Amino acid sequence: MTSSNLNLIFLGPPGAGKGTQAQRVVEKYSIPQISTGDLMRAAVSSGSALGEKLKNYMSAGALVPDELVLDILLERIGHEDCANGFLLDGFPRTVAQAEALETALVERNSPLSGVISIDVPDQVLTSRLTARRICSKCSASYHLEFLKPQKDGICDKCSGELYQRKDDSEEVIKNRLKVYHEQTAPLVDFYQKKKILYPVDGNKKIDMIFQEICDIIDNLNSP
Ligand code: AP5
Ligand code: MG
Repeated sequence: MTSSNLNLIFLGPPGAGKGTQAQRVVEKYSIPQISTGDLMRAAVSSGSALGEKLKNYMSAGALVPDELVLDILLERIGHEDCANGFLLDGFPRTVAQAEALETALVERNSPLSGVISIDVPDQVLTSRLTARRICSKCSASYHLEFLKPQKDGICDKCSGELYQRKDDSEEVIKNRLKVYHEQTAPLVDFYQKKKILYPVDGNKKIDMIFQEICDIIDNLNSP
């Protein structure tokens, strides 16, 4: 890794569209999407001892303790596919995580390029999440109204089966939003102070938001 890498963070509440936009960004900019949620859901599905621990927090919509997430994340950004940068989706989620990431990136001489915060009002988020469907193979996300798959229940990209996430029930969503406002929203201020925060209105059409995000990234890239 070097200081010219494209190291991005997507910050935003549950349902803001982090995963939806990340899938488009990774295709265009050839950097991997690293979703701590996806990594931990894979650990839960594997049935490992770590997965069992994570399951309890995730199904309640609570944050997984920092030390567990950090181990997973720091190991992942050491992989070879991150040599030119990465897009973090859903990490960091606490100030402690943000500080630990900063320390790790200083050690690698590979600072953050920018933090794109996707802003969407809470009332819009609940309806996005309750009608979301996810691909069991490639994690692509769909919406029963706004982003329908071509064939019901089947992923357009890899033909995997679509499922509904267990934490996408109204009750758990309520807690996820509460946790976001209490523990993650302070990161907006944290990155604003470092002058690397780029807010985007996430309550628009998916393609329009993507265009705005590309404009931001292209400006980061230009000398
Ligand atoms: P995670 O998997 O990261 O979930 P999240 O942050 O709650 O975010 P989501 O994945 O629900 O939303 P998204 O922003 O990706 O939205 P999407 O693009 O799918 O984390 C899950 C859990 O893991 C956490 O609760 C916690 O327990 C744990 N965890 C993860 N990271 C952690 C960390 N760092 N520390 C501690 N714990 C951690 O879009 C949502 C829906 O809306 C889709 O149906 C989509 O099609 C639709 N949509 C998207 N954009 C639009 C648009 N513009 N208009 C209309 N519909 C849209
Ligand atoms: Mg997501």
